[in-house]
Parts: sequence; C-alpha cells; structure tokens
Amino acid sequence: MDSLIIQGGNPLRGKIKISGAKNAALPLMACGLLLSKGSLELTSFPKLADTNSMATLLINLGLKIEIKNDNALIFGKPNNFNAPYDLVNKMRASILVLGPLLTRFGSARVSLPGGCSIGTRPVDLYIKAMKALGAKVKIIKGYVEAQAPKEGLKGCIINFPKVSVGATENTIMAASLAKGETIITNAAKEPEIINLANCLNEMGANISGAGTNEIKITGVKVLLGTKCKVISDRIETGSYAIASLMTKGELELNNAEPLYLSELNETLLKSGAIIKTSQDKIFVSSKSILPVNVETSVYPGFPTDLQAQFMSLMCIANGKSEIKENIFENRFMHVPELIRMGAKINVNGGIAKIKGVKKLNGAPIMATDLRASISLVIAALSAKGESQISNVFHLDRGYEDIENKLSNCGAKIKRVFNK
Ligand code: UD1
Repeated sequence: MDSLIIQGGNPLRGKIKISGAKNAALPLMACGLLLSKGSLELTSFPKLADTNSMATLLINLGLKIEIKNDNALIFGKPNNFNAPYDLVNKMRASILVLGPLLTRFGSARVSLPGGCSIGTRPVDLYIKAMKALGAKVKIIKGYVEAQAPKEGLKGCIINFPKVSVGATENTIMAASLAKGETIITNAAKEPEIINLANCLNEMGANISGAGTNEIKITGVKVLLGTKCKVISDRIETGSYAIASLMTKGELELNNAEPLYLSELNETLLKSGAIIKTSQDKIFVSSKSILPVNVETSVYPGFPTDLQAQFMSLMCIANGKSEIKENIFENRFMHVPELIRMGAKINVNGGIAKIKGVKKLNGAPIMATDLRASISLVIAALSAKGESQISNVFHLDRGYEDIENKLSNCGAKIKRVFNK
C-alpha cells in the first residue's frame, strides 16, 4: 500500500484551489438513478477514490458515466436493483442508492454497509424513512431488501429522532418521486443538502426548506436531466486552513465558500488565526497558536470531519485544550499516532485533553480513516524531521491531487508506491 514521505518544517505559502465537495458529489451522483430522460452533468466534480467507488456502483446498476476533466456526465437506465456487498463495503455512502432505486423502480436490494473505523454507523434511520413512505423493508442475509407498494411510495411525515445527513438525503431523493407531500422534520441542514435539493429542483422536483430543519417535498412524476455545480469542499478548505496555521504559513484558498465554515473560522480566530475572506477566497495566516476548547456538533456547529485536523493544531498550541466528539463514538483513532509524534493527549470517553508541546517530531505513522489521515499529514508538515504515513489510500478517498496542491505551496511531500 502507498505511503507518503513528508519532510516537516516548511511553512505552506501560496494558493490552493479547493475541489468540489466529496460529500455533495456522492448524493448528486445517486440522483442519476432518478432520471427518466436526459443526462445529469456535474461540474466541479472531484476525482476521488470515493466518487470512483460510487461511479463503479452506478455502472454496475446499469448507468453510464463519462468523466472528463472536472465534469461527470451520468445517463442511461438502471437494469438491476442489487447493490452488492463488495461494492457497498468500500464506501458507506453507497447506501444512498437505496431511496432512488426504491422510488424509481419499486424495489432495491442494497448490502448493509457495516461499521467502520469511526463507529458502528447504523442505517436504522434510512430504513425508518423508507417504511414511513410505504415500503416493506426486510434485512435478509446482510442486505436491505425493500419493496414499494404497487402504486409507488406515498408522501408522509418523517420525524427523525436524530439528525442524519445521509438519511435526510436518501429520504429527499425517495420522496421526490413519491405520490403527494413528504415533510421531514429534524432534517440535517448541511450545505450539501441544499446542493442536492437545488439539483433535484432543476431536474423538476418540488422541494422547499433545504438548509432548515424542516424540508417539504411534493412528489413529481418524472425527473429530467440538468447541469449542476458541485459546491466547494468545506472540509478540504478547513483542512488546508488548519495546515496553514500549523505550519505558520500563509495560504490563499480559492473556490472556497467562507459561509460554510463560520464555526471553524470563529474557532480559528480564537486560536490566533488571521483570516480574511472575499467572495470565494479565504486567506489564512497566524502569529501564534492559542488553545481553544471545541466540541463537534451537527451543522452549523463544529464539524466532526475537522475534529482530527483541529486536534493536530492543538497539539502545538500554547497551553491546554479539550476536544469533545459528539457525533461518532470512535473518532479518536489519530490520537495514538499523534502521541507517537510527541503529542501529549489523554482520552477519556468522548473527550480528549491536549497539552500543547513546542513541536511534534516526525515518525512512522499509520492512517486509519479519511480525516485521521489528513490530520497526520498536517501534523507531519509542521513536525521536525521526516514522517512516513502508511495506508494513505484513506486520504485518496477525499483529497483530490493532494501532493501537488501541497508541494506547490512549499511542502516536501512524496508518495512511495509500495508493492
Ligand atoms: C456524513 C458525511 C460524513 C460526516 C457525517 C457527519 C457524507 C458522504 N458523509 O456521513 O463525512 O462525518 O455526515 O457530519 O456525507 N446514525 C444513526 N442511524 C442512521 C444514520 C446515522 O444512528 O440510520 C448516526 C450515526 O451513527 C452518527 C450520526 O447519526 O452517529 C450522524 O451520522 P450521519 O449524519 O448519518 O453521517 P453520514 O451521513 O453517514
């Protein structure tokens, strides 16, 4: 498996163009299953291992996908409703094909994605919503087998007991072709949900309230092709912003959306960052790194997907800080690796207590999940000496062209292709 070798200690200086958001692109791709006619063109499309996994799954279901530069064209008609384990287990978001398959074709058989390194990650909320829309759902031999009534899914009121991004997206897609009105309460409010609803509306759907906790979907008969821009990746933006601070650099992040990161920006300002924003640019530099306590929460709170990166920063803050993880039960896998680099961290339940040290030291370290990987890259960029990060396939799931983006800004980073 590939590794990254990083010589730390070089401030990142320059410009980075932020890619389209992975977490927006995946549900948008699943919308291809809803098309009755025409094609769905996604611009600013990120070429990542995860979007590649989704493309493989959709092609397996019978769609056609052409990817050129940063455009993806999705068209064709599904000819099977079975999303097998070997494709779904590569990426949890594959479960997003459940709602579209069920609403468009009346049945779906989708492998349960299983847990992952950051937690058990059940899909009970997806199933609850599909049942509320009238589907019969059974779990048989590790698969969700769902069948819509003959007359199709029927609009209803769905009150999610817990906020879930994926379950909200899956329900929006399923309800867009159901009969009548669906109201989702306690819906997720992420910008990626707004991107999805806007795209579906362009396809002919009737969705209002996306971006609030109550979303109304009035089902329509058909959805047609359109062109839709994938919003910029707020987690990639936040990751590079933190990398800029941690290396005492100065980065200009282009194709960014400052509004999506207001909570992170406030936290970074408290920790000594200098942040200037204009329409689609964020400029980040700093003089000192001060300790700040944070806890993750649903949008617009501090994102769980930036918790690991922020912890790396706090490892070299001037004092003690506390980070509480509220979304996933096992999202501190980066801690032992940061400790190997000289960090002082104590974890008790969902709380990590960090005592800042002057510098981290390069070390051989292992990536364990997507966001843990980038936190280790950021730590290694600021550390003294060389780090070798193994298992970087995790990183390729969510960071497009990372070596080039970082080396263009002065990082000493190279990939080693292990046999
Ligand atoms: C999405 C993001 C992921 C991010 C997460 C939280 C994508 C592709 N991934 O993941 O990067 O970390 O939001 O911001 O967009 N839950 C249940 N039952 C369910 C579904 C979820 O209990 O049926 C729980 C989860 O275990 C977790 C919480 O709800 O504790 C939030 O998860 P959710 O918002 O669903 O995350 P994802 O959509 O999987």
